[in-house]
Amino acid sequence: MKITLSVIKADIGSIGGHIKPGERLKSRVTDFIRDNGTKLILDYFISSTGDDIAILMSHSRGEGDSEIHKLAWDAFIAGTELAREMGLYGAGQDLLKDAFSGNVKGMGPAVAEMEFEERPNEPFLFFAADKTDPGAYNLPAYLAFTDPMYNSGLILSPKMKDGFRFDIMDVSYVDGDRVISLEAPEDIYDIAALLRDNQRFVVEKIFSRGSGEVTAAVSTTRLHNIAGKYTGKDDPVMLVRVQGEFPATGEVLAPYVKGHYVAGFMRGSHSGPLMPVRQNGTISYFDGPTVVSCAAFCVHDGRFTEPADVFDHPFWDHVRDKVSRKAIDMRDQGFSGPAMLGYDELEYGGIVERLERIDRKFEVRKK
Ligand code: F6R
Ligand code: MG
Ligand code: MG
Repeated sequence: MKITLSVIKADIGSIGGHIKPGERLKSRVTDFIRDNGTKLILDYFISSTGDDIAILMSHSRGEGDSEIHKLAWDAFIAGTELAREMGLYGAGQDLLKDAFSGNVKGMGPAVAEMEFEERPNEPFLFFAADKTDPGAYNLPAYLAFTDPMYNSGLILSPKMKDGFRFDIMDVSYVDGDRVISLEAPEDIYDIAALLRDNQRFVVEKIFSRGSGEVTAAVSTTRLHNIAGKYTGKDDPVMLVRVQGEFPATGEVLAPYVKGHYVAGFMRGSHSGPLMPVRQNGTISYFDGPTVVSCAAFCVHDGRFTEPADVFDHPFWDHVRDKVSRKAIDMRDQGFSGPAMLGYDELEYGGIVERLERIDRKFEVRKK
C-alpha cells in the first residue's frame, strides 16, 4: 500500500513564556483532527516538543496535498482561538498569513513529508526540535548516513553498500527551491562543505541509492525568510524510515550523543547544545537548551502503533548531564564570540537598530 507521512508543526501559544503548549491546547488540536480528519487521513498522532505542537498524519493523498495541509492549518487556527481565550503567550505565533492558500509551506508551520510503498513492516522515526533551525539535523544526518563510525551497517549490511543520495536545499534563496543532489560516499567532502553551514544549506531529503527509496525528510522553512523579520526559530521536524536498507534506529540516534552546538537557544540568537529529550517536555534554562525529541513507530496499512519515546531511556540521562555542562560552558561566554550568532542571524530588531545608531557616530580619523 502506498502511503504518505506528513508532519506539520507550529507554535500557536504556550504557558509561562515559550515553554510548553499545555494539555488543553493539545486536546483542542487533537479534537479538531479527530472530528474533521476522518475522511482524509488514515491515522494521526499529536505531541509537543517545547512550545510546538506537531500533527503527524498518515494518508494516501501524496505530498503537498492541499486538503491535508488545510486540515492541519485549520486545527492550528482552532487551537489559536483557545490559546487567545486562555491568554497563552504568543498565541498564533507561527501562523504568519491570514488566509490559507493551498499549502502550509511558506505560511509559518514546519512541514516534512514522504510518500512510499509501505514495507510489510515499516518502522520510522519522528523527530521534533525546539529553539533551533533546520540545520540542527545536518550533522546527525550526515553522520548517520555516511559514516561507519556511527552507521555500522554501511560496512556490515549488503543492503546499504551503495550509500545514500542527499538532496540539499539552499534556504537563503527565497525565489523558489534551490536544491542540489549529491551522492555518498563519492561526494562526502562536497556534502560536508555544504552542511557545515547550518544556516544556509539544509538536508531536505535522503534516498537509498540501492533501492531508490526515500528514507529521510526534513522541514526546510526559515521563518525569517517568510516574515522578513524575527518571529521565532524554525523548530524543525524530521521523518526517517529505518531498518533493512536504511540505517537502524540506533544508528540514526547515535550522533545525538554529541549534543552538538546549534543555532537558537535564547531569542533564537545564540549557540547552544542540542539536548535529546522526552516527548511532551518543557523548555527551561535560558529558554533552552535547544531540544530534540524522537518518537519511533511502526505503520501498517497507514495505522500507527503506539509511539516508543526513544530518548526516554537511562542512557540519555548521562548524555543530558553532559549537554547541560556544555550549555553552561557556552553560557559562560555570555554575548562574546561564538556564544551569540553572527549579525545576519540576530533577527531581534533591537540590536540592528542599536548598531545602526552607533554606526552613524563612527568617525574616520584624519591623518
Ligand atoms: C526563542 C524563543 C524565546 C524568545 C524569548 C523572548 O526561539 O522563542 O527565547 O525569543 O523568550 O520572547 P519575546 O520576544 O516573545 O518576549
Ligand atoms: Mg515559540
Ligand atoms: Mg518553538
